[in-house]
Amino acid sequence: KTEPLVLGIETSCDETGVGIVRGHTLLADAVASSVDEHARFGGVVPEVASRAHLEAMVPTVQRALDTAGVTLADVDAIAVTAGPGLAGALLVGVAAAKAYALAADKPLYGVNHLAAHVAVDTLEHGPLPEPAIALLVSGGHSSLLRVDDLAGEVEPLGSTIDDAAGEAFDKVARLLGLPFPGGPPIDREARAGDPAAISFPRGLTGPRDLERHRFDFSFSGLKTAVARWVEARQRAGEPVPVADVAASFQEAVCDVLAAKAVDACRTHGVETLVIGGGVAANSRLRAVAEERAAKYGITVRVPRPKLCTDNGAMVAALGSHLVAADARPSALDLPADSAMP
Ligand code: KG4
Ligand code: ZN
Repeated sequence: KTEPLVLGIETSCDETGVGIVRGHTLLADAVASSVDEHARFGGVVPEVASRAHLEAMVPTVQRALDTAGVTLADVDAIAVTAGPGLAGALLVGVAAAKAYALAADKPLYGVNHLAAHVAVDTLEHGPLPEPAIALLVSGGHSSLLRVDDLAGEVEPLGSTIDDAAGEAFDKVARLLGLPFPGGPPIDREARAGDPAAISFPRGLTGPRDLERHRFDFSFSGLKTAVARWVEARQRAGEPVPVADVAASFQEAVCDVLAAKAVDACRTHGVETLVIGGGVAANSRLRAVAEERAAKYGITVRVPRPKLCTDNGAMVAALGSHLVAADARPSALDLPADSAMP
């Protein structure tokens, strides 16, 4: 029996993603992004994103089918991000997935965006050992999850209490005069900087904070500290050492993310750490996490950068896992749930 062919649709934020997988094999990963349309606002504008999804949806599905060399009739199931995300943006994807499922008479699977960020790793590294700890860091979320069963049991251990990690990268980039989204230019600048040049705060790592927020994150204090530091420089009429600020900021983020992720693995006796979301593309985060995890025999799995940011392949990957696990398909009245846990 050949493995199921699954088409996945992702529209939770500003990427219209359509992926096609067979089992754990990636056949197509078509992404149309509206990121350039949001750049001048310094963040994603929901209404602009929804409209862009609507325009990109059908051509992106076609592009994915063409790349994979299959037709809609060949597809065994259709998976779609049902939440969490921007309500209007999600609705476009969910409505499209229902239409394709109904028209081609295929089962529909509504999936959780965060679980899909974890599942995408199976396309790169094969089946995920369970239990695993997942660190999901992007522009919209920063979460630690315990994954006992990708098809069902995912327990949230902690999340950000203010800004998401990617949001902090975007805001700090903005105040350093770097383009949006800020992760890639900070990553680049940081390579020429000294990560120990400036000592920035590590949120929720003090003994008191650890009692209540052991696996939670906070990046808004860090962002403010960077802003104050840069302003003081500018007031004094001194140049801002962009590379050093970028490297020191990035170090503070990566230090906390890696420390808490490894702590979660050790506390839960889990030997696999999977990192996903746009910030997982950060070169320093990968290095710090691997170095810390290796000390305790923990294996770190990070998919390649293109699979870390939002895409349809991750949704198809989770859909494929659900089909293989004989999960029950969603009904055609599947709602888009912007606040899905
Ligand atoms: O997963 P994603 O594409 O979309 C969301 O669901 O948010 O993540 C986008 C976020 C942005 O905040 C971007 O600045 C960040 O991921 N990002 C990075 C890097 N590449 C993208 N952050 C740090 N280092 C990077 N290399
Ligand atoms: Zn995401």
